[in-house]
Amino acid sequence: MTKEEILKIYTNKESYLKRIRPFLSEHRYLHSQSVANLCYQIADKNGLFKEKFYLSGLFHDLGKNCAKNAARTQMETFFRAYIDLPDYTYHQFIGSLILKSEFNIFDKELNEAIMCHCTGKANMSLMDKVLYASDKIDPLRGYDSEFMIKAMLNNIEEGFKLVLKENFIYLKSKNAIFDRLSKNCYQYYDIF
Ligand SMILES: [Fe+2]
Ligand SMILES: [Fe+2]
Repeated sequence: MTKEEILKIYTNKESYLKRIRPFLSEHRYLHSQSVANLCYQIADKNGLFKEKFYLSGLFHDLGKNCAKNAARTQMETFFRAYIDLPDYTYHQFIGSLILKSEFNIFDKELNEAIMCHCTGKANMSLMDKVLYASDKIDPLRGYDSEFMIKAMLNNIEEGFKLVLKENFIYLKSKNAIFDRLSKNCYQYYDIF
């Protein structure tokens, strides 16, 4: 999408907030706004196209409420290569489909960020990193993430590695099983 098209959506964000509401629970709706604001602030502080980063946060969880069976069918049709992943990751892929079909928004950078916000992956773009980190350190998640927010505001590359490391330590303490995209991500960024 062109810069003008992105800015037009951002300018009309109040109407997009209304339009995303039916796709999300109250909790996810507030989380989406909070993540959008955080992406905006991090991008702004780091001299990036902040309005576009806002949109990545706003739309990132659109696939969250998709019913399990429907999500599986969509995965089989459009994302067969990722069907082996745990089903809690499906929403990152379904979200990109909803963005196109329901909002008529198709942008490679936005889509790619949404499609790895849950798992991460190897070789992430700046938008991928900002969205992934903002999703994990959203103040509404209710734990003390202030030091990671500060790190992201200060320097995206260093902040992202800190968030990845903290996330890895947390999941490891919970004996979580890592999906292959998360493993790729941790390996690529030397966290494993
Ligand atoms: Fe998500
Ligand atoms: Fe999220």
